[in-house]
Amino acid sequence: MKIEKKENFQSFHLIWVDEIDSTNTYLKTNYNLFEEYIVLIAKKQTQGRGRYNRIWESNNDLCFSILWKKHQRNAILAPLAIIEALKDFSIDAQIKWPNDILLNGKKLCGILIEDIYEESFLASVVGMGINLEDKPSVDGVGVLLDKEELLKGILLNYERLLNISLNECMTLYKKYSLVIGKYVHYEGHVCLVKDINLDGSLCITFKDGTIKNIYSNEIDIKNAMI
Ligand code: BTN
Repeated sequence: MKIEKKENFQSFHLIWVDEIDSTNTYLKTNYNLFEEYIVLIAKKQTQGRGRYNRIWESNNDLCFSILWKKHQRNAILAPLAIIEALKDFSIDAQIKWPNDILLNGKKLCGILIEDIYEESFLASVVGMGINLEDKPSVDGVGVLLDKEELLKGILLNYERLLNISLNECMTLYKKYSLVIGKYVHYEGHVCLVKDINLDGSLCITFKDGTIKNIYSNEIDIKNAMI
């Protein structure tokens, strides 16, 4: 790993590297060496990771992770920061719960949030991978934007969102959410998604009217949505 550039932007400290296994893995392993607000950006990841232990292949992605040491609502803030940044470039994307970003129905961006606990909460690593190709080879979608401009747009919006109330963030999140009012398969039942709760869980109702809150580790929404 070679550090290519270091710079400060807003409250963030950016470290640009050429190649790394995974920006999330690095910050998870070395969180105690850094203050929060560190942003690690890699030109290339050799072992990029996605949710559910999936491999995250990057070609021309914007790949980066942010280290946080406060327990905050990253599951809500991270997708919102991306959506709002894309809006600044006149791109209207949507959030597929819990935090995939879709453009024209296809995945543009993935977010991997990993919390570090040792008895109590210590840190959180928020990793984002955004496809910046106009013609991605996989069944995905891309946007042809400048890497650095998009990154800074996301960070600017992240910091702005940190300073607005959770209720306001939730209103925005719901506005961009693709799942509210849709049906999902859950434990053999077809359920209606009623709402998203403040803790990021999904509020679903069964046919008999029973209400349940489910968490992102309980279902893979990709397979569950009808
Ligand atoms: C997903 O959709 O499954 C989440 C993908 C997250 C990918 C990003 S790229 C930067 C950071 N480092 C990783 O290894 N993963 C995240």
